[in-house]
Amino acid sequence: MYQNRNHIRYYKQTAMINRILLLLFTGIAFMHCKMDGGGDQSAAAHPAEEAAFEEDSHTYAALGSARTTHLTLDLTVDFDKKILGGKVIHKIDRNGGTSFVVDMNGLDIKEVRDASSGEPLEWKTGKNQKYLGQPLTITLGPNTEKVEISYLTRPDALALDWLDPVQTADGKHPFLFTQGQAILTRSWIPLQDSPGIRITYDATIRVPSELLAVMSADNPQEKNSDGVYHFSMKQPIPPYLMALSVGDLAFRPIGLRTGVYAEQSVVDAAAEEFSDMEKMLEAAEGLYGEYLWDRYDLIVLPPSFPFGGMENPKLTFATPTIIAGDKSLTALIAHELAHSWSGNLVTNATWNDFWLNEGFTVYFERRIMEALYGKDYTNMLALLGRQDLDETIKKSDPKDTHLYLDLDGRDPDDGMTDVAYEKGALFLKTIEEKVGREKFDRFLVRYFERYKFRSMTTGRFLKYLETELLEPNGVDIDIDAWVYGPGIPPGAAEVHSDRFLLVDEAMHQFLEGSKQPGDLQTNGWSTHEWLHFIRQIPDDLSIAKMEALDDAFNFTNSGNSEILAAWYERSIRNGYADQIMPSIIAFLTEVGRRKFLTPLYRALKETGREETARKIFSGARQNYHSVSAISIEDLLNS
Ligand code: BES
Ligand code: ZN
Repeated sequence: MYQNRNHIRYYKQTAMINRILLLLFTGIAFMHCKMDGGGDQSAAAHPAEEAAFEEDSHTYAALGSARTTHLTLDLTVDFDKKILGGKVIHKIDRNGGTSFVVDMNGLDIKEVRDASSGEPLEWKTGKNQKYLGQPLTITLGPNTEKVEISYLTRPDALALDWLDPVQTADGKHPFLFTQGQAILTRSWIPLQDSPGIRITYDATIRVPSELLAVMSADNPQEKNSDGVYHFSMKQPIPPYLMALSVGDLAFRPIGLRTGVYAEQSVVDAAAEEFSDMEKMLEAAEGLYGEYLWDRYDLIVLPPSFPFGGMENPKLTFATPTIIAGDKSLTALIAHELAHSWSGNLVTNATWNDFWLNEGFTVYFERRIMEALYGKDYTNMLALLGRQDLDETIKKSDPKDTHLYLDLDGRDPDDGMTDVAYEKGALFLKTIEEKVGREKFDRFLVRYFERYKFRSMTTGRFLKYLETELLEPNGVDIDIDAWVYGPGIPPGAAEVHSDRFLLVDEAMHQFLEGSKQPGDLQTNGWSTHEWLHFIRQIPDDLSIAKMEALDDAFNFTNSGNSEILAAWYERSIRNGYADQIMPSIIAFLTEVGRRKFLTPLYRALKETGREETARKIFSGARQNYHSVSAISIEDLLNS
């Protein structure tokens, strides 16, 4: 059964000055580190590397100047007004700065004070720019070390999804969740919103007493009577990993360090579906070193969550559409878990380096899947990924198919394509095959250990790769072509799946008419074989044959969200949509996961059904988080 069916009842003013500041700061910090010997060993050994802050065109903050080290949040969650209100205290490293600049997008600032003396501080906001929001510039007192900002969010805050009870699984209570990546945290907290900095935080969150609050932090496992929850995140994280969710949540343990949060009516199915989480955690540690975040829990959100998953530390946020009943979509958990190393420990320094987060994570995800379920199974996942990559490269501007991106002046969200994910993973797989798995694994273990709790640029990674792995092993690979060039360079690792060859054979028999759909050998097929089968349906397959497939396999009513999405797109493009339009509309209305929505709306538009698409969108929009709503709006208006 498709579990989710029921849920619905539910920019840089003075880049030059920054560069000069950066150079100055690097120099000063270098001398500083030499004098005090540095903190931990690895930091002491590489002072210049630790001090340099990358130019990040997606923050207003001058990262070489006054910089936040710790945040203290105190927020009240008002579901009636759809507002978060309260204050945030920034503990800062002044680095000689006389002013302190944070990012904000759509916030109402009430007052700014020196948190120690209580003295008001002068502040001003700058021009609002698309995607970036505004700078909030605060003049520091001579001794200011803590800055307290009182503020309110607005009901349309980009990061926040405020759900009415009918949009939840249980239908009784409202729900709230945040989505920070890439640059949306600034729409619920005024902060320095660059992946190149790290902060620790603690928080007090006040919610209606019948609800539970959870964060990317140490979490409570049950409700208390006053609705006031305290959180602490002791490991330093980049700001895009600040996260909060509030709802009528229950918790179920899975293993000693793992568990699931979800609404009451979902939590048992979730615990069952994700029963391998602890094993995944152990497999991941076995591959690339100790898990440094204490617990790994997961929260299943309502279906409006715009992504499959989000690697908020200690607490992955996930879509309910991965609860398929047969554990077939849990690679997503392996993915988000893998981010506990690639992304959360070693973090892309800017959004141009996004492939360092996602390419590594897809590679790592597949290694976890292989450890648990074997090579045959994982090859299917890899081949589906390769198909996605080929499709994306075909329809993309060649510049957008480089691993290292140029997102200046653009929404960093534009970088979230199969290129970062699948070309990134393919690059790493290609290196693995050239040096051998053992050496590659040892290299990765050392890489995560050496750079843990740091940010990483593409340039620095490539240097490390060359000196630590490629040169010592005499490996020759055209790195520039992979990272700074388009498409897939020659000599890429190849992916084969024997199980998919059997699917190809079945499709061949159906297409040449030697077998009726019901007579095809489909016994024991997993979701991935079915997905491959649906992807092989030719563009011009007749409506009668589409219908024959549907009669035999009932794709239209599948309990599996991936199968539904693939089948609906095929159906729209093959003229079979009229028969099944109510199901397509129901899916587009219930599910807010962007990866499913965009291909379907695009297919509707490209097959002359733009008006239908607009009508569906206007009915469904309130069920979408801003991330999905804005993408669909752009698609329909382009
Ligand atoms: N970190 C991403 C989600 C993300 C990326 C959000 C960029 C905002 C901006 C997450 O780890 C992810 O990759 N999710 C994928 C799942 C996956 C299995 C490839 C998704 O949501 O589809
Ligand atoms: Zn990811």
